[in-house]
Amino acid sequence: MGAYLEESKDFVKNMQALTTRSFETFDVRAPKNLKEQRELGERIVAALQRDSLIQIQKNYQEDLLTAQALLQNRKFNQLPFDGKIKFVSDTTYTGYVFSGEEKKGGQYDQVEVYTVFPHFDKDDELVKTLRLPCHGEAVYPSVEYKNAIEAYMKATGNMCDQLIEIIGLGLGLEPNHYLSKMVRDGFHHARVLRFKSQKEAGGSSNGISAHSDYGFLIAASQDDVGGLWVRPITNGEKRGRNYLEEETTIGAYNDQPGWAFVTPTASVWTVFVGDMMELATDRKLKANLHKVILNEEKERFAIAYFHEPKFNQTFLSVNSKGQKKEIVYGKHLTNMYTKAYPNRSTTKRIESEELIKNIDRLPKIS
Ligand SMILES: [Fe+2]
Repeated sequence: MGAYLEESKDFVKNMQALTTRSFETFDVRAPKNLKEQRELGERIVAALQRDSLIQIQKNYQEDLLTAQALLQNRKFNQLPFDGKIKFVSDTTYTGYVFSGEEKKGGQYDQVEVYTVFPHFDKDDELVKTLRLPCHGEAVYPSVEYKNAIEAYMKATGNMCDQLIEIIGLGLGLEPNHYLSKMVRDGFHHARVLRFKSQKEAGGSSNGISAHSDYGFLIAASQDDVGGLWVRPITNGEKRGRNYLEEETTIGAYNDQPGWAFVTPTASVWTVFVGDMMELATDRKLKANLHKVILNEEKERFAIAYFHEPKFNQTFLSVNSKGQKKEIVYGKHLTNMYTKAYPNRSTTKRIESEELIKNIDRLPKIS
């Protein structure tokens, strides 16, 4: 068994060396006019199609906000288990996820998460009358945590707004296009992450198994430990459309070669595309497939921010039988969360009270 463990560690190391590739870094503040914005957009679109991940340059202020948010992440995770597990709500997924709670593709992920969904007062119409899933009061472990995470999310969201506008221009759209409109008042959220070392996880290396994310853009910040792997599309490799019931990205190619290690780089966000962006761009941009492998020795901290469409944003797709299918972002998100957290009180309530149906009571936005 020991020899097997050593062998698998060597395998991971070799794979890392073989598949390390550099990703292009872009500055969304650089363009001086529409023409330069369009040119930058075209380069970004090409890089996303080729590498499936880009890096966006941060300024000093954004670096500072990242450091403060990561510090609060560390501090929170130093609390004993009992001090963390109490942050759970049955109306929203905002709160703590313990290591081993999250499930993707039949595997339990070795990750601790503090999820931050948008806050809605308990008297808000959406909570009280419409009883929407994923809508409730956001609880935070402390005021310092709330301030640091929210400030980081705001700065990241501002960058994503600029980036989406630039990507649309790169795709040939006119300024203030539909992609930018779809994320206005979107269901933006974050996952504040702590990964165990393989040692702490008893030799297991699975941080998060292969999957795509659900919305438009994902912008992540990580410390210097590293563990994120992405899978650029090569040789026309088939990708499931994660928003269709009969197709999925969860667990796809998890144990097969072809993954690229994302070497931690200072002062950048790593950015990639999610399911709804794939749908909204008619698959010109495809949702990035990624996974996390635990470092052998070190714990790892990261924050993933999700820039999303409106909860009731509706898209049209055609399924494998050629039938038209309406995809509502809020339903896709809720489905993915209930699958990932089958035993959480939030999920049990959504299922027993059939809350997902309530999304149909919202006006359709297409
Ligand atoms: Fe992800």
